[in-house]
Amino acid sequence: MCGIVGIVGVTNTVPRMMEALHRLEYRGYDSAGVATLHDGDLHRCRAVGKIAALDSKLVERPVKGDIGIGHTRWATHGEAVEVNAHPHMTDKLAVVHNGIIENFASLKKELIDKGHQFEGETDTEVVARLITDYLTSGIDAKNAIFKTLKRIEGAFALAILVNDNNNTIYAARRGSPLVIGLGQTENYLGSDAIALASLSNKLIYLEEGDWAQISRDSVSVFDMTGEEVARPITYSQVSNTFADKGNYRHFMQKEIFEQPFILAQTIGKYFDQNACKITLPVEGFDFSEVSKITIIACGTSYYAAQVAKFWLEKMARIPVEVDIASEFRYRDPVYMDGGLAVFISQSGETADTLAALKHAKSAGQTILSILNAEESSMSRESDMVFPIYAGPEIGVASTKAFTCQLVVLAALAIEVAYVRGELDDNGVKTVIDNLEEVPRLISDILNNHKDIEKIAHYIAKARDILFVGRGTHSAIAMEGALKLKEISYIHAEGYAAGELKHGPIALIDENVPVIGLAPNDDLFDKTVSNLQEIMARQGKVIIISDREADAVVGGSEKLLSFKMPKACALVSPILYAVPVQLLAYYAAVEKGTDADQPRNLAKSVTVE
Ligand code: F6R
Repeated sequence: MCGIVGIVGVTNTVPRMMEALHRLEYRGYDSAGVATLHDGDLHRCRAVGKIAALDSKLVERPVKGDIGIGHTRWATHGEAVEVNAHPHMTDKLAVVHNGIIENFASLKKELIDKGHQFEGETDTEVVARLITDYLTSGIDAKNAIFKTLKRIEGAFALAILVNDNNNTIYAARRGSPLVIGLGQTENYLGSDAIALASLSNKLIYLEEGDWAQISRDSVSVFDMTGEEVARPITYSQVSNTFADKGNYRHFMQKEIFEQPFILAQTIGKYFDQNACKITLPVEGFDFSEVSKITIIACGTSYYAAQVAKFWLEKMARIPVEVDIASEFRYRDPVYMDGGLAVFISQSGETADTLAALKHAKSAGQTILSILNAEESSMSRESDMVFPIYAGPEIGVASTKAFTCQLVVLAALAIEVAYVRGELDDNGVKTVIDNLEEVPRLISDILNNHKDIEKIAHYIAKARDILFVGRGTHSAIAMEGALKLKEISYIHAEGYAAGELKHGPIALIDENVPVIGLAPNDDLFDKTVSNLQEIMARQGKVIIISDREADAVVGGSEKLLSFKMPKACALVSPILYAVPVQLLAYYAAVEKGTDADQPRNLAKSVTVE
């Protein structure tokens, strides 16, 4: 989603802003631009498409300046065309923006009535024109920005470069993250620590409602009342080297194939096999006192939550509610005293999840966040953070972060089960022993990737595909369908297998492949019955199972199958996540889509 950079520097900022924009590419975007102040004039360059297009344009028409702002845009208001790309400029300033100005329509009307002319359709342009209006009436830049901030509504991060000889960038944060980087003779601004990794590791995170004045040698932060405030300096651990693909064709492929190693690390952090103990990264919180667990997340992280609900209820016998973040706070949820609210997010910045977290926090729930980005808005708002240690995930489609989330959720479930007396020392030892096998079992699955490639070759021709499973594997079916549709653009849906006959079975014919996740567990016979119902209607079933395919559906020459290793019920959904990731990846490769940066998607979804 939109990314912001800014440099108040002593040498030309453009190459360094471009480097920072490349670092923000992983967030997803559809246009990019930079604006600088040079010799008393504002200069700008914008391009639609990848940052490489902006690079080329800058070669043809160079822009330079010691002070500048840059942006990657993920379109919300107005198409991805150059006139809507940021920075937006007037004769007095340039503005870049991440988020949404909710009252832009009424402000735009007011400004048009005053004679302002708008070039594009974005909500951002309203900010540029409103500040310009105040500046034209004689108000200085700082007060013009403060007045504007009081008038705009919504969730946003802004960087504003005013042409007033003060060599200052103004920044504002409401909802969307923004961080200031401190340098020796320069200062910086970025959407996250990753953007600033090659510029500074000495960071000031703006808090909700903060705005700031950044010059070469000073940084002043103000709260929403206009009072100057001191915010702590933190030191980022984010590496300044670019993640690279190694010998892989795509980051997504690399991230799928590195799961055995990454998961071994995460398992090592949360489980001590020798001592047969869970080693949680927090001390002093008594999980036995928790009355109810509410788990909130979006997308793939939400499917991890669904798996966790099965685990927690079955192993720990505690009531668990799971909801998608975009719905949660709007349905007026009922909290219980002593409730634990768990938020799962790889980015730690997802606007809906962050808003739900704040809702639960204000209702007095204890907040536990399960995050990949340890330096994130959610981590700062939480009582406890469980990192998933997946490392940077560059592919927009989440893979290794999902399986790492599952491992951490398994640790939570086992801990809660133990402290509630539902699992004894022997039980803990057994589950830890099983989890320790996960990296080896996933390596076995990955070694057979050619079999999945054959299936992907077949399904890539389909227009619609269904994924079905039962229990924890119904969540993996939904995750498989999400993965496939987001990167191959094949329409796919995931269902609890038993639900099919309540509607979706009407879709079944010889052109609709159905991927059946059928582990040999206590629901195996039920799943097989559902697969038989599909085959009885000419549906093409593809079996992913640890049983021989013939045993599952009685044999069929047209049947495709993938053989899984045997695993216990706790470990099984972690393993079944891997073939559905591979299926999506190879189907995308077969179709020639961009597996790493699929159309319309953003890695860090910072608008509601
Ligand atoms: C899909 C995917 C998304 C994210 C969702 C939430 O592959 O990655 O569905 O899971 O946007 O993002 P986070 O986990 O960052 O809150």
